[in-house]
Amino acid sequence: MERKIKTIGVLTSGGDAPGMNAAIRAVTRTARFNDMNVIGVMRGYQGLIDKEFVNFSSASVSNTIQRGGTILKTARSKAFLSDEGRRKAYENMVEAGIDALIVIGGNGSLTGAQLFAREYDIPIIGLPGTIDNDLYGTDSTIGYDSALNTIVQCVDKIRDTANSHDRIFFIEVMGRDAGFLAQNSAIASGAEAAIIPEGKTDVDQLAEFIERGKRKSKNSAIVLVSEAQKDGVGGALYYAERIKNEFPQFDARVTILGHLQRGGMPSAYDRILASRMGYAAINALLEGQRNIMIGIKNDEIVYVPISRAVKMDKPIPEELISVLNVLSI
Ligand code: F6P
Repeated sequence: MERKIKTIGVLTSGGDAPGMNAAIRAVTRTARFNDMNVIGVMRGYQGLIDKEFVNFSSASVSNTIQRGGTILKTARSKAFLSDEGRRKAYENMVEAGIDALIVIGGNGSLTGAQLFAREYDIPIIGLPGTIDNDLYGTDSTIGYDSALNTIVQCVDKIRDTANSHDRIFFIEVMGRDAGFLAQNSAIASGAEAAIIPEGKTDVDQLAEFIERGKRKSKNSAIVLVSEAQKDGVGGALYYAERIKNEFPQFDARVTILGHLQRGGMPSAYDRILASRMGYAAINALLEGQRNIMIGIKNDEIVYVPISRAVKMDKPIPEELISVLNVLSI
């Protein structure tokens, strides 16, 4: 028989993402609505090991929905990767009376959750919190839309100077091994090309992009480049160097957007997504669900086994590649 869940723990782990606070708020308020106690775990899994626990009331999450970052702080805990670390985490949870855990994080964090749930009898619900949008089974992750908007605002500004100087800009964006941020920010900013890890060989991509530039007889262009390297090569600096050597008639510059992509207020979309997912996480626990990630598919909340969310590849739809290729002629 399922144990009654009286107290939940909530933590954020891995890279922060705009909308994490909205998710913490939704989890807390929905749990309180259902008479559960809420313990905020500071600094991700490390807080479980170090017993950094804070009792959360409904008021603890007031005035947070609009704030970037995470009020629970976050970390990539090395200690949690060890058997000893996870054992300590479990013992501390039992001591604090935490019956279930809500983990808000990306691929690495949910992989940790899966391992923890396999070893110890603890219901875990994952919420996809990452700007990378690389989790299988959900159309979007919390933070992805906000990061996309931040990137597009930056590219719009860079375009002004690229145009004025007739320059090619290689703008490097985050995404770890996934090209969603690069591909969709290229479409949204009207860029000439996107170089993504899911794409063809880098030689083809560069030649194709140069060809497009020639067709438009333009010397100014914007190319979004994923940070991920392919076959050991990649990144905006690599392409700018190749332009210098192979197409010296072009004047190339590089901008690496870096961590500014992770900061700032969450977009309305991310606030709503995080609110729906946080609410769904507690309801899933009440239904007796465990070891699933909350996803969104065709605007409906879905449950995805964590094992699938982290293992399966999430491909970039071919349509997005075609849209950019056609619209950038
Ligand atoms: O997973 C989110 C992410 O921002 C990736 O896009 C990026 O590769 C990584 O985290 C950067 O991590 P850190 O902040 O630890 O340098």
